[in-house]
Formats: sequence, C-alpha cells, structure tokens
Amino acid sequence: MSGSALAGTILGSKHDFTGLNERAEVTAMPGLAFADYGNPCVYCHLPPEKEGADSSELGGIPGWNRFIPAVDSAYDLYDSRNLDNKVKTPSPISLLCLSCHDGTLAVDMTVFKPDTWNSSEDASLHLRLNGGNSLMNCGKCHNGIAAHSIEIKHIGTDLQNDHPISMEYAGLNSKDPDFRPVDHDYGFDNGVKIYDNKVECASCHNVHNPDVNLLLRTGAERLCETCHIK
Ligand code: HEC
Ligand code: HEC
Ligand code: HEC
Ligand code: HEC
Ligand code: HEC
Repeated sequence: MSGSALAGTILGSKHDFTGLNERAEVTAMPGLAFADYGNPCVYCHLPPEKEGADSSELGGIPGWNRFIPAVDSAYDLYDSRNLDNKVKTPSPISLLCLSCHDGTLAVDMTVFKPDTWNSSEDASLHLRLNGGNSLMNCGKCHNGIAAHSIEIKHIGTDLQNDHPISMEYAGLNSKDPDFRPVDHDYGFDNGVKIYDNKVECASCHNVHNPDVNLLLRTGAERLCETCHIK
C-alpha cells in the first residue's frame, strides 16, 4: 500500500471508503456500516458532475462535499492567555476533517452522491467515526475486540487538548520571535502548509500522502520546529 506508484494518493488508504471490505478481508462494512459510492474522492470532494456547484446552499462546507457539523460554532477550541488571537469557528478546510473526526456525522453523509451510484445499494446503517458502543457508531465493532479501536481517531468536539487550529500563523512577517518565517505564501519548503495565513488540520496532515506515519507532512520529530523556534 505504500508503494511509490500510490504515493500521493488516497487509494487504498484509510480515507478510501471504496472496496474497504475487500481490503480488510471482512464483509461487514460497506453495505452495512456505510454506503460505498464507488468513487473514493466524493467522501470529501464534489463529484465531477457537480463541479462548480455550491454545496453551501444545501448546508455544506463551502467547496467540499460534506455538511457543516451542527456543533459548528460550539467547538471548544484551544484557548490560553498566551494565544495571540482567539478563534470562534474552525475554517472550512478544518471543518472538513471535523465532519468525520468529531464523530457527530456519518462518514458517508455527503452533500451530493455521484450519479453513477445506485441508491438501492444504500447502507442499512450510516455509522459515525465514534468509539461509542451503539448502533450509530463505528465503535460498535471498532471497540478493540471485534476490530481495532476507532476511539483514538475520534477527536470529538472538545478541541482544547489538541493543537490550536484556524488561527493566523504567528510567524508571518516575522511578527513573533518564537515562530519561524514562512518560506513562501503556502508555508514551508518541507511541505507544512499555511492556508490563507492560518494553521489548519491540513497544515500538519496530508490525507493525500498515506506513505507517512499518521499522514504527517513531515516526520513528527521535525514537525513542531518547522514553526516553533523553541
Ligand atoms: C479525506 C478527504 C479527501 C479525500 C477522500 C480526497 N481528498 Fe483530495 N483533497 C483533500 C484535501 C484536504 C485537499 C487540500 C490539500 C492541500 O491543500 O494540500 C485536497 C486536495 C486535492 C486536490 C488539489 C491538489 C492541490 O495541490 O491543490 C486534488 C486534485 C484532489 N484533492 C484530488 C482528489 C482525488 C482525485 C481524490 C480521490 C482519488 C481525492 N482527492 C480524495 C481531501 C480529500
Ligand atoms: C469521510 C470521513 C473522513 C474525513 C472527511 C476525514 N477523515 Fe481522517 N479518517 C477517517 C477514517 C475512517 C479514518 C480511519 C479510522 C480507523 O481506522 O481507526 C481516518 C484516519 C485519519 C488519521 C489517522 C491515519 C492513520 O494512519 O492512522 C488521520 C491523521 C486523519 N484521519 C486526519 C484527517 C484530516 C487531517 C482530515 C481533513 C483534511 C480528515 N482526516 C478527514 C475518516 C475521515
Ligand atoms: C460489523 C463490524 C464493523 C463495523 C460496523 C465497522 N467495521 Fe471497520 N472493520 C471491521 C473489521 C472486522 C475490520 C478488519 C480488522 C481491523 O482492521 O480491525 C475492519 C477494518 C476497518 C478499517 C481498516 C481497513 C484497512 O485497510 O486498514 C477501517 C479504516 C475501518 N474498518 C473503518 C470503519 C468505519 C469508518 C466504520 C464505521 C463507518 C466501520 N469500519 C464499521 C468491522 C467493522
Ligand atoms: C500542529 C500540527 C497538527 C495539527 C494542526 C493537527 N494535528 Fe493531528 N496530529 C498531529 C501529530 C503530531 C499527531 C501524532 C501525535 C499525537 O497523537 O499527538 C496527530 C495525530 C492525529 C490523529 C491520529 C491519532 C492517533 O494517534 O492515531 C488524528 C485522527 C488527527 N491527528 C487528526 C487531526 C485533525 C482532525 C486536526 C484538526 C482538527 C488535527 N489533527 C490537527 C499534528 C497535528
Ligand atoms: C504550521 C505551524 C505550526 C506547527 C507545525 C506547530 N505549531 Fe504549535 N502553534 C502554532 C501557532 C501559530 C500557535 C498559536 C500561537 C499564538 O497564536 O499565540 C501554536 C500554539 C501551540 C501551543 C499553545 C501555546 C500557547 O501559547 O498556549 C502548543 C502547546 C503548541 N503549539 C505545540 C506544538 C507542538 C507540540 C507541535 C508539533 C507536534 C506544534 N505545535 C507544531 C503553529 C504551529
């Protein structure tokens, strides 16, 4: 799965919800736990035939094929007296990640389904990435006994123990001596990215590069010092 032919792709990674039964050698998931839309991209991106559609008119995250979690303005974001700027709501590109990882929406709950998908193959259950032991959650099987535990990937809506997100990068214009200046408008030469001057989930993680442990943009030992000077 980590062969160079698949480098930089989502195919066969944990974010590829097509053919998951075959890969995991079980018959339990697509069809029961979530719908297999046959196109691995549409769990995040608009289907090709909807390119240019405005998903936000239907309650979607602008530019993405997923809904804004209902907790949108109620995330408990990291806060501290030291933080230069307070953030109330995550940006769209981080809401994309949270729409699965906060465990409140089914992983197959997309705004648009691809035209090629046959709705008679809809899943009987539409489970959420949540370790909870009920028929609404992947944790029903992914409890560490029937299958690997999904709990650790469930970030929840309390983000206070996680790295802050959606705040302006403090190293812009060498504003703050504790942070390194960026190499270019999009971030750093080692791949760590800045989005509209902000730090987001995808600053550190690249879902398109499953070859690196935990999808990190650079090795964990280098990641922090990309931005923090001490
Ligand atoms: C789990 C969510 C997710 C899935 C599934 C996914 N993508 Fe992406 N994709 C992203 C994110 C997030 C970005 C923005 C990454 C960035 O800015 O570096 C992105 C960016 C892209 C880009 C733009 C690249 C760029 O440099 O701007 C293309 C093209 C793309 N994806 C194609 C695909 C294709 C094709 C598939 C299916 C094979 C796919 N994606 C599946 C999340 C996803
Ligand atoms: C469509 C649902 C969905 C979306 C959207 C999504 N994820 Fe995931 N993510 C998953 C699932 C499912 C797993 C695997 C869970 C497991 O196997 O325990 C996963 C796993 C991960 C992992 C762990 C990978 C590993 O190798 O263990 C990371 C890191 C991650 N996601 C980050 C992100 C980021 C960052 C984004 C946004 C750019 C994102 N995810 C968007 C569903 C999603
Ligand atoms: C009926 C039981 C069952 C349910 C429900 C279930 N799974 Fe699984 N899943 C399994 C089994 C069994 C495996 C294989 C053993 C393992 O990887 O732990 C597996 C494997 C996986 C893998 C690893 C595949 C790989 O290629 O590495 C992912 C990712 C995954 N499941 C995601 C999910 C998600 C997301 C949900 C909820 C939408 C879910 N599963 C619901 C039983 C289930
Ligand atoms: C500043 C960098 C950074 C940001 C921003 C960030 N992460 Fe992470 N993430 C990490 C690192 C480093 C790890 C591995 C060590 C750990 O678990 O703390 C990780 C681990 C994870 C894991 C896997 C947990 C595990 O151990 O299997 C998931 C899922 C994840 N992050 C999702 C997200 C999501 C979703 C966001 C945005 C809400 C986010 N991350 C923001 C750096 C970051
Ligand atoms: C993309 C740049 C970037 C990366 C990579 C990064 N950080 Fe940060 N970090 C920031 C910014 C920006 C802040 C918020 C600073 C502010 O606004 O005061 C911050 C804040 C923090 C805080 C809170 C500090 C406070 O004042 O409350 C901690 C702790 C932290 N980072 C740890 C880490 C660790 C550990 C890593 C590596 C896993 C890491 N950071 C990687 C940019 C980054």
